[in-house]
Amino acid sequence: MEHKVGRLDALTDSSPLALNVDGRPLGVCKVGDKVYAFRNMCPHRRAPLACGTVEGTMVPVSRAGEFKYAMEGQVLRCPWHGWEFSIETGESLFGVSDTRVRTYPVVVRDGDVYVDL
Ligand code: FES
Repeated sequence: MEHKVGRLDALTDSSPLALNVDGRPLGVCKVGDKVYAFRNMCPHRRAPLACGTVEGTMVPVSRAGEFKYAMEGQVLRCPWHGWEFSIETGESLFGVSDTRVRTYPVVVRDGDVYVDL
């Protein structure tokens, strides 16, 4: 069921917003021209993920232990223990866990943001 959660112009880029929609904890975040919605609860110890950050991370570039910063705006990082998740799919990055964050489809119509819960 689709829920209107606010106005697109009220969202700050890469700064998650915590909401409660029909009793469900929800995080909403705009990154560039995309808007993502996710369950605002880390699968590790239930931290509010919307209090975390949305940025990039260090990724391996060689077997020799070299890393580079990449995935800017694609990584949701938990505020408590730093687990990282894809903000798009909710998957845990780098095999830290086989759990994932629930994500929800988002549409923007006439400047209003709707999440399908
Ligand atoms: S509660 Fe999120 S990583 Fe521990």
